[in-house]
Amino acid sequence: RWNVNKSMNLQKKETDLQEAAAWIKQGKVVAFPTETVYGLGGNALDSQAVKEIFRAKGRPNDNPLIVHIAKREQLDALVTDIPEVAEKLMKAYWPGPLTLIFKASDQVPTDVTAGLDTVAVRMPSHPIARELLLESGVPVAAPSANLSGRPSPTTADHVWSDLEGRIAGIVDGGPTGVGVESTVLDISGPHPVIFRPGGLTQEQIAEIAEDVELDQALVTEGQAPKSPGMKYTHYAPKGSLTLVTNYLQIQELAAHAQAQGSRVGILTTENRKHEYVADFVFACGVDEDLTTTAALLYNGLRQFDDHQIDVIYSEVFPENGVGAAVMNRLRKAAGGRIIE
Ligand code: TXA
Ligand code: MG
Repeated sequence: RWNVNKSMNLQKKETDLQEAAAWIKQGKVVAFPTETVYGLGGNALDSQAVKEIFRAKGRPNDNPLIVHIAKREQLDALVTDIPEVAEKLMKAYWPGPLTLIFKASDQVPTDVTAGLDTVAVRMPSHPIARELLLESGVPVAAPSANLSGRPSPTTADHVWSDLEGRIAGIVDGGPTGVGVESTVLDISGPHPVIFRPGGLTQEQIAEIAEDVELDQALVTEGQAPKSPGMKYTHYAPKGSLTLVTNYLQIQELAAHAQAQGSRVGILTTENRKHEYVADFVFACGVDEDLTTTAALLYNGLRQFDDHQIDVIYSEVFPENGVGAAVMNRLRKAAGGRIIE
């Protein structure tokens, strides 16, 4: 069975896939794994279920949700127009970590779109997510299954520590693969525009749509982001995170903060973890492969909390490929604190 993970003691949270699908049909909300992060799903066409998602997460209601589907045919009822470029992108990258923004049909409740005239849709590739979507037979609205403001969950334990007592259950599929959320791409305008960098890289999108652009707010300081969710200080650990461009400065900064009485953490990779001394050093993958860093990033941010770290210094990462998403999340988690 998908949900049984015997290596973890998760009896209470393990939810049978059939039961989870039945709950979704009944208007309840359940957490489930996708290839990016765990989602908190409810029937997208049931506005009570959608309200329940916002309540469980403590999410501001001006932040719209992504609608998840299992079959291409489910898209037609949700949108009014499917541009040529969207057809090509779906053919190349669905199912997978790509969310597309379409003009919304009037079947989509305003709770899902937060009153915008567009709707975000994605087809996840994770076998459990696909199975759940097929079984429930409805489009499923699902944000990441964290409390609003916390790092997105990449394990069932992360979900449980944020949402225990607030949701019906979790389908436990073990750790997710990609580790950062899907790429949000607007295809409703003249050029495809990346609203949120994510698991599918800009380079991959450019293979299909070479005129793809980044939302200016991701490049220029002080611009209002087009994707409502990008304006919140997301992904943040409890400790104060600072990015350090030159890693050779990190050990001295850490020693200084420790001398002032702080518990200090350092975020690096396997390649340099032995060069540092701190209260907690997290090796976030290996330099040779940025996908390993993306896969572990949120787990690492949560572990600094588990170790009651007050001050975190992080190395910076190359911004090619999925590194763009990693650095986007780290910058937001750092809230502008960067030592060049
Ligand atoms: O990988 C993912 O995308 C995960 C998994 C569960 O599928 N979901 C996820 O959802 O990250 P959430 O709600 O945490 O992030 C959705 C993002 C937010 O930044 C939101 O503002 C944006 O997508 N979004 C949703 N609908 C939009 C729309 N109509 N226009 C612009 N941005 C939209
Ligand atoms: Mg989220």
